[in-house]
Amino acid sequence: MIRAAELIQRKRDGEELPDADLTELILGYARGEVPDYQMAAFCMAVFFRGLSPRETYVLTEAMIRSGETIDMSGALGRKVVDKHSTGGVGDKTSLAVAPIVAACGVPLGKMSGRGLGHTGGTLDQLESIPGYRTELSLDEFIAQVREVGTAIIGQTGDLVPADKLLYGLRDVTATVDQLSLIAASIMSKKLAAGAQAIVLDVKVGDGAFMKTLEDARHLAEAMASLGEQAGRDVVCLLTDMDQPLGAAVGNSLEVLEALDTVRGRGPADFTELVLDACAKLLALSDLEVGEAEGRRRAEAAVADGSAEAVWRRWIEAQGGTADESALPVAPVQHEVAAPVGGYVSRLGAIRVGVAAVRLGAGRRTKDDAIDHAVGVVLHAKRGDRVEAGLPLATIHARDEDAARHAADEVLAAYEIEDAEVPERPVLLEVVG
Ligand code: URA
Repeated sequence: MIRAAELIQRKRDGEELPDADLTELILGYARGEVPDYQMAAFCMAVFFRGLSPRETYVLTEAMIRSGETIDMSGALGRKVVDKHSTGGVGDKTSLAVAPIVAACGVPLGKMSGRGLGHTGGTLDQLESIPGYRTELSLDEFIAQVREVGTAIIGQTGDLVPADKLLYGLRDVTATVDQLSLIAASIMSKKLAAGAQAIVLDVKVGDGAFMKTLEDARHLAEAMASLGEQAGRDVVCLLTDMDQPLGAAVGNSLEVLEALDTVRGRGPADFTELVLDACAKLLALSDLEVGEAEGRRRAEAAVADGSAEAVWRRWIEAQGGTADESALPVAPVQHEVAAPVGGYVSRLGAIRVGVAAVRLGAGRRTKDDAIDHAVGVVLHAKRGDRVEAGLPLATIHARDEDAARHAADEVLAAYEIEDAEVPERPVLLEVVG
């Protein structure tokens, strides 16, 4: 008998819950024995009172126990690596990192999610590729990682079902942005998916869940600690999300930019983050190389075309058309001109993300269909000099009306000043 009401009250009053009670509450919820209204109240109590490190670990373990787990490294006889981002605008990092790391001889198997709110999702990006299958069986997934070096698929329903339920509930009860709940949600999925080494990209700023470096640091420490307790190697990159990452925001536009980056022709900030992530992943892998050598190998895989060759094999293995001319293109392209000359001092990530969602690149409700062709391409980023009347961005839209609305939103995201703006790196800090 699960005493849900009593546990809600004890958490509301700030008590640390015993391991067995917290585990039973979560497993009971996953079995349908604890109703949504009690779990919603429990999440709100956690939102205000928090969870201790011990409780966060127990919650993570219970969520993992609610479903299947995969032993990727055991199945491949290799140390398999994985990466995850907490989500941001223009974040297509996984698409470029996976083939580069695989081209360096390190298997990377990844289960990804869809976009949330104004943040894009890897699965939505991949589904802009005609024919790409995001649903492989576990056997197909493992076989592809073995043969091609990489596979990116959707979360299988059997993995961490408690998180699926809990996330849906948190999404509609204003309890998503609680540090322990986020840490447990992300890490339960990463640990259940079985990689031995994980690089976590924790986004910080306007367009991220974590608005301050301090909050991001706490989330990173919580996730690194959960990984360590589970015997995995975890490194967290704290990276800038005050402005969108790279130039492209919107699904097929982001696929194109990721491919350009795999070919060595990506935007500077995005390329920098991709190479940082690859260097860390190779340093954590069984290649037994340091980070500097990892970076050198990643750069070489881009320069000699082997990363692009893996991209092609990976997309085709999952049923997709690797030729970029097959990607959908929006019928309307509309330029946003700079109203004045000067230096870009700010480019708000949320505003650009919201403009892309309104164009149809993201969902406003759970059941919305995505328009894979639409989005925004930014020609000027923070620190860039711009001339009055020249394009700041191009809107890719379904029709003129949608393009004009998005153009207003994107223009409002820019702040332009007379004085030069100092550079700020994408990688702000490393934890773990
Ligand atoms: N991403 C997740 O998977 N879970 C959260 O709680 C927040 C972001």
